[in-house]
Amino acid sequence: MKILEEKILSEGRALGEDILKVDSFINHQVDPVLMQQIGEEFAAHFKDKGVTKVATIESSGIPPALMTAISLNVPLIILKKQPSKVLNDNLYQTAVTSFTKGTTYELTLSRQFVSEEDHVLIIDDFLANGEAGTGAIRLFRKAHATVAGIGILIEKSFQPGREKLMEQGIEVYSLARIAKLEKGHIEFISED
Ligand code: G4P
Repeated sequence: MKILEEKILSEGRALGEDILKVDSFINHQVDPVLMQQIGEEFAAHFKDKGVTKVATIESSGIPPALMTAISLNVPLIILKKQPSKVLNDNLYQTAVTSFTKGTTYELTLSRQFVSEEDHVLIIDDFLANGEAGTGAIRLFRKAHATVAGIGILIEKSFQPGREKLMEQGIEVYSLARIAKLEKGHIEFISED
């Protein structure tokens, strides 16, 4: 998506070979107009997949996921990150380890908000190792719901996330695909 790539080039900062900082429009301050355009793009791409719900993982995925849900006219589910297992029959939970942040949390979904009739579109800001996405897929499959696809704002294509999600039979649609990061330099995968 050209406007997202341009925004990344003008405001994003490669801190080194691994981390792209996008605090001014995604992770800390949010650009609402860009989020609206992103929501429309995801909605157009997945319009024939019978999506009944959009889901994201708190917190930075919420703005683009909400805009996608508005465009598709379906509810948004925010998967919670809880510190330890909560014993509660009304919840689906699965452990997710973040390699980037070195943390583990229990990804949590209330049974109340999902059924086997649901076709869920998962939206997230970054795709790195694919652990969060894999955890979300596990949760919805526990609920016998169908995962309609995954929409990502920024895919770090030099990390294994995309392959990992595709191996699970899931379509991954990333709006910006980064081939390489170096301090002060950002390179995209050319789509042409
Ligand atoms: P994975 O799900 O693809 O395996 O990614 P990983 O666990 O390694 O990433 C964990 C967290 O780090 C996620 O945020 C993700 O958005 C963030 N992250 C990964 N790579 C980058 C990067 O290059 N730049 C930035 N800014 N963030 C990155 P989170 O813990 O879910 O936090 P939140 O921001 O959604 O609250």
